Amino acid sequence: MGKTQEAAEQATRTPTIRLEVARYRPGEDAEPVYQGYDVPLTDDWAVLDGLTYIKDRLDGTLSFRWSCRMGICGSCGMTVNGEPRLTCGTFLTEFGEGPIRIEPLKGFPVIRDLVVEIDDFLDKLAHVRPWLIREGEELPLTTEYAQTPRQLEAYKQYSMCINCMLCYSACPVYVLNPDFLGPAAIALAQRYNLDSRDQGDRLDLLNTDEGVWGCTFVGECTSACPKHVDPAEAIQRYKVTAAVESVKALLPWGRR
Ligand code: SF4
Ligand code: FES
Repeated sequence: MGKTQEAAEQATRTPTIRLEVARYRPGEDAEPVYQGYDVPLTDDWAVLDGLTYIKDRLDGTLSFRWSCRMGICGSCGMTVNGEPRLTCGTFLTEFGEGPIRIEPLKGFPVIRDLVVEIDDFLDKLAHVRPWLIREGEELPLTTEYAQTPRQLEAYKQYSMCINCMLCYSACPVYVLNPDFLGPAAIALAQRYNLDSRDQGDRLDLLNTDEGVWGCTFVGECTSACPKHVDPAEAIQRYKVTAAVESVKALLPWGRR
């Protein structure tokens, strides 16, 4: 029995839900079209399971990214019924009888179907010098810098980011201004700024119109974040730091 026939027979045995999936090949298609697929509706299936079912049983040409299936790798982010979501953590049963519309993450160029370009996002992460900076010393690999639980707690929340890009997709500023450093990159900078072992200075990167001052505090980034990183809080906290440092710089003895 062929896979398509097998899938059709399975569909008659179990309830199904319709996925309306955006299909697009830049350079070949004039615009995205939505293709409908019926997939089994079971309590334990996430949207990603539905897409995998389509890929394996119905249409092998569908393209999408995923890796861990457990909310760790951050690669399965898509727009599900208009909201940026991790598709491995979004269950089909959440949408009643459907249909469920699945599109690529908004705000990013599409490579194909549900796969978006991530280079700009990765460049922004690297831009904030996301490593421990020590003044006047090389950091030998064998060196240990002890840290108390309280010191760990100061930045731990920001270290939980899985680079899923949902916050960028939700952010109206990033959609309008691609130069905006964006929520996850600023949260990442704060992850290091607040680390007791770090002595780095990222003020020149963050205290700019493309940095924290680009944020209009809509807060959608925090609402979209599946890991409760709260990038909006990271940005607002750094605005205070930047303002204090700017005032200090005006004083006769200058900054630090
Ligand atoms: S801050 Fe949250 S939403 Fe943004 S990339 Fe990190 S985990 Fe994803
Ligand atoms: S597949 Fe890894 S987070 Fe969804």
